[in-house]
Amino acid sequence: MFADKDISKFNNIETPFYYYDTDLLQKTLSTCAEAAKPYQFHIHYALKANFNSVLLEQIKQIGFGADCVSAGEVRRAVEVGFDNKKIVFAGVGKSDKEINEALDLDIFCFNVESIQELEVLNELAAAKGKTAQVAIRINPNVDAHTHHNITTGLDENKFGINSWDLQECAETLKASANLKFIGIHFHIGSQITNLDVYKNLCVRVNEFCSWFEDKGFVVKVLNVGGGLGIDYYNPDSQIPDFKSYFKIFKDFLEVKSNQEVHFELGRALVGQSASLITRALYIKNGKKKNFVVLDAGMTELMRPALYQAYHKIENLSRGNGTEVKYDIVGPICESTDCFGKEVEQPESFRGDVFAIRSAGAYGEVMASKYNLRDAIRSVYSNEI
Ligand code: LLP
Repeated sequence: MFADKDISKFNNIETPFYYYDTDLLQKTLSTCAEAAKPYQFHIHYALKANFNSVLLEQIKQIGFGADCVSAGEVRRAVEVGFDNKKIVFAGVGKSDKEINEALDLDIFCFNVESIQELEVLNELAAAKGKTAQVAIRINPNVDAHTHHNITTGLDENKFGINSWDLQECAETLKASANLKFIGIHFHIGSQITNLDVYKNLCVRVNEFCSWFEDKGFVVKVLNVGGGLGIDYYNPDSQIPDFKSYFKIFKDFLEVKSNQEVHFELGRALVGQSASLITRALYIKNGKKKNFVVLDAGMTELMRPALYQAYHKIENLSRGNGTEVKYDIVGPICESTDCFGKEVEQPESFRGDVFAIRSAGAYGEVMASKYNLRDAIRSVYSNEI
C-alpha cells in the first residue's frame, strides 16, 4: 500500500487518523465485481465493517447492494443513494422502531432471525398495509474455524433459527398474510481463511433449500452471507482471492434457474484499504520490557484488545536499523490497550510515525469515546 504513496506527507498531518487508500479500494471492488460477474452473483456490502460515507459512495458506484444491521445503517445506505431494492436488513434484535423504519423505506428483504421476529414483522407490516419480503436466517451449525468471538453459525450462537425450529417457522410463514417468503440466509462467521468451510456451508444450504421446497415454498434467494478473510500478515498482498471464493459456491451450491445467489461481504472489500496512522508519544525502556506509547489506542482500533487480533505494525519513520522488541501500546488506562507484544521494530523515537495496517474493516466503526477521547479523523489518499 505504501510503496506507491508519498508517506512523507503524513508528517504534516495531525495524528491519529485513519488513512484510506481510495485507489486500492477501487481495485478491490472491481476485482470482486469482475469475479462475481460470470455467475451473476449479487453482492451486498456489509456496512457494519465500515459505514464511512466516502467509502460507501465508491461501493454504491460499483453497483453493490447494502447489508445493514440497524435502522441507522439502512438510513445511511439510503442517504448515500444505495437502491432500496438492494438493501437487506439482518440482526438478531431488530426493534419495532427499526422494523417500521425499514418497512417505510421499502427495502428488498428482512433476514429474520427468530419465529417471534416473524410474528412482530407480520403485525407491523399489516398495520401499514404492506407486505414484507423475508429470508429466513438459518443457523446451519457449520464451524467457520475462525476466532470463537466471531463465529456465528454454531448451535451455541445466538444467530438465526435452529433447524429444529424450522417446522414451526414454516407454519408461521404460512399463517402470516403480510410476509412474503423469498429465501434463506446464512452467515457462519468472519475472517474465514480456510475456504473449505464454505464447501460445508454449501452442502447445508442445499439441504435447507430442499427442505423448504418440499414444504411448498419457492426459494428464490440463497443468501450465503459474508466472512471472507484477509491476510493481516501480508497487508501488501492487498486483494483477497475473490475468484477462488466465488468458484466454491459455483461448484458446490445447487442453484436452479429461478434462483439468485446473494453475498454479504464486509471485511474482504474494505479491510486492506486503510491504516491507522499514529505517532510515538513516548519510548519507555524498562527492565523487562520496552514500550512504544502511541497517540492511538484501543479507542481508535479495538480489535487487538477485543480479540487479540493481529495487525501488522510498521514504523514509517525509520529504515532498517537495530531491531528492538517493543510492546506497542496506546494511551488508554487499560492494560489490554496494546497493539502488539514483543514486536520487533527498528529502534524507535518520540515523534516516529507508525502505521497499523489492514484497519479498514471494523476499525473506525468500532472506535469509542472511552476516556473522553477526541473523535478519530479520516484522511483519503486522493486528497493529500
Ligand atoms: N452478514 C452478517 C449477517 C454478519 O453478521 C456479518 C458480520 C457480515 C455479513 C460481514 O462479515 P465479513 O464479510 O465482514 O466477515 N468485529 C469483528 C467482526 C464482526 C463480524 C460481524 N458480522 C472483527 O473485528 O473481526
